[in-house]
Amino acid sequence: MDNSLRAKLEEISHGEVVFDCPLAPYTSFAIGGPADALLVIKRKEDLAHLLNFFHNESLRWRVFGKGSNLLVNDAGFRGVVLQLAGEFAQIAEASVVGENRLTVGVGAGCSLTKLNHHCCRQGLGGMVFSYGIPGTVGGALLMNAGAWGKQMADLVVDVGLITAKGYEKLAVKPGDFRYRSWSSFAAYIGRGIIVDVTLALTSAHPSQLQGEAKELLRKRKVLQPHNYPNAGSVFKNPQGDSAGRLIDECGLKGESVGGAMVSTKHGNFIINNNKATATDVLTLIARVQHGVKKRFCVDLELEIHVLGASG
Ligand code: EPU
Repeated sequence: MDNSLRAKLEEISHGEVVFDCPLAPYTSFAIGGPADALLVIKRKEDLAHLLNFFHNESLRWRVFGKGSNLLVNDAGFRGVVLQLAGEFAQIAEASVVGENRLTVGVGAGCSLTKLNHHCCRQGLGGMVFSYGIPGTVGGALLMNAGAWGKQMADLVVDVGLITAKGYEKLAVKPGDFRYRSWSSFAAYIGRGIIVDVTLALTSAHPSQLQGEAKELLRKRKVLQPHNYPNAGSVFKNPQGDSAGRLIDECGLKGESVGGAMVSTKHGNFIINNNKATATDVLTLIARVQHGVKKRFCVDLELEIHVLGASG
């Protein structure tokens, strides 16, 4: 990236930009090379301006949530990584829409942890399934994150997006989502950014929600590895089965390549055991896919997103 582009980015971001920024510290896997720039955006008015700038300068860009469902390539990303903070991480007051029914507007950059703590304190039910998922609301929506039989699609009423033309609101229905994807977002890829989400919640007792959250976190800690960096479930579950079970049956738990290892606790997790590279993880993924295909004739599809140098 040349100096004049750098100067423009400095100006647009009010100085909140880091050039040649290593991405590993921004991912839960703690893996990945540098981005040309990482830029923290805090004000809605800056975002449409920025998208126009990216378009005019033919700059690649990506939004990073908490980098928790992501494997960044060792070569990093030739472009700009955006993080949403400030105005994008806020939670609005709940509005009552019926008996025991409320809606709440949440910024896409708000972490699921912050939202869950808020819901538990305020007695807002419905989100607790996501307690312990280490992402942002925007990221969770985009991948229709789910756990314990529930998913984001069950709660979303509408979504606010910013494109180069400005802000628009999209009404959303459960049919717009699939297992681990929001299929209707395809039309906005590369031109729109999710900035807020309205969620339909219920009223509940804070103490009951806190109890449920504590129990789900306990179960998560028993079933899933948490002492080593990882990116959550690596593969989508094949219909009617569990990727973790298939990998386990193949005897692949503990299998390793370089610093990456299939968790001995849960077959669908790869942990960064010792300074793993993205190449280590990708080689291990291919080995696991090959093993499961050979034994069960099942193609395991990636749930994690892989960010390559060019997108
Ligand atoms: N199993 C094994 N061996 C293993 C792992 C699992 O036999 O190594 C068996 C379990 O005993 C169980 C079945 O496989 O009978 C399913 O396992 P588990 O209950 O752990 O659920 P999962 O299907 O592997 C899904 C989500 C998780 C979510 C949990 C709890 C996917 C791909 N994974 O896991 O989501 O936390 O249910 O609801 O949908 C994530 O997406 O990153 C994630 C962690």
